[in-house]
Amino acid sequence: MAINTANTSVGLNAQSDAVHGRILVWDIPTRIFHWSLVLCFVIAYLTSESERWQVWHVTAGYTFGMLLLFRLFWGVVGTRYARFSDFVQGPKQTMRYLSSLLTRHPHHYVGHNPAGAWAIIGMIGLGLLAVLTGWASFSDYGDWFGELHEGIVNVLILVIAIHIGGVLVSSVLHRENLVRSMVHGCKQGNLLDAIRYPQWIVGVLLLVGLGLFLWALLSSRLPALLP
Ligand code: HEM
Ligand code: HEM
Repeated sequence: MAINTANTSVGLNAQSDAVHGRILVWDIPTRIFHWSLVLCFVIAYLTSESERWQVWHVTAGYTFGMLLLFRLFWGVVGTRYARFSDFVQGPKQTMRYLSSLLTRHPHHYVGHNPAGAWAIIGMIGLGLLAVLTGWASFSDYGDWFGELHEGIVNVLILVIAIHIGGVLVSSVLHRENLVRSMVHGCKQGNLLDAIRYPQWIVGVLLLVGLGLFLWALLSSRLPALLP
């Protein structure tokens, strides 16, 4: 994508209007992570009620866990807007952002806004706890792990509902389709704020890693993990 033209064709001292355009914000691994996470969550949820589907429930659940571990890694070494240090902010900034939503000119963030960031941290944390308690219940460490697992998943569903609501409200307030941005990776912004590389190689490695993990799980190379 021709985004890194900021230093060449436009020039560093250009007026902000002149450097405004469609810029790459979400790298490929972040987008693969997000939509695979949604898919795994939906499969795990839909297959949770019946013993018959347990192998799918557990497989989707572990893959969900793997994706979250990858995201922890990518939140440290990933591109600018994927890093936790870019979007996790204190309660003051979060309150300032939330109160700006009531004004005519709400603060706009190129990456995640501080309120959305807390939902993200919540979903990652609760997601990991859901996988751990699911594994403990499945491994017969105690019936109460099953109860805890269900309870954690219910809180996770609440945070996901807030997340989706927040995405829709921000899309309307900022007049930008955030859902589509999570698909093609681009938003409107200053060309100087674009990330440089989409990170295709890491994206392909992530897909290959997920494929290998699923193969190892389903071909009984990790038999202790499956029903
Ligand atoms: C179909 C329903 C969903 C839609 C439309 C959606 C949409 C989005 C969008 C637009 C963003 C970027 C927000 C921003 O611009 O700041 C995002 C981020 C995120 N969403 Fe969702 N989401 C959905 C479901 C979920 C579910 C079910 C989960 C967790 C199980 C989830 C977890 C996350 C996470 C962790 C991020 C942060 C992405 C990153 O930086 O890696 N989302 N989502
Ligand atoms: C995205 C991750 C996951 C989600 C959303 C999820 C969701 C759920 C839900 C909603 C239930 C309750 C079903 C009912 O009403 O009876 C459940 C039960 C269960 N899940 Fe998960 N789960 C996840 C991951 C896992 C993992 C990784 C494992 C095991 C390795 C697992 C093992 C179990 C077991 C054994 C039960 C039955 C618990 C019992 O009733 O004692 N889950 N799960």
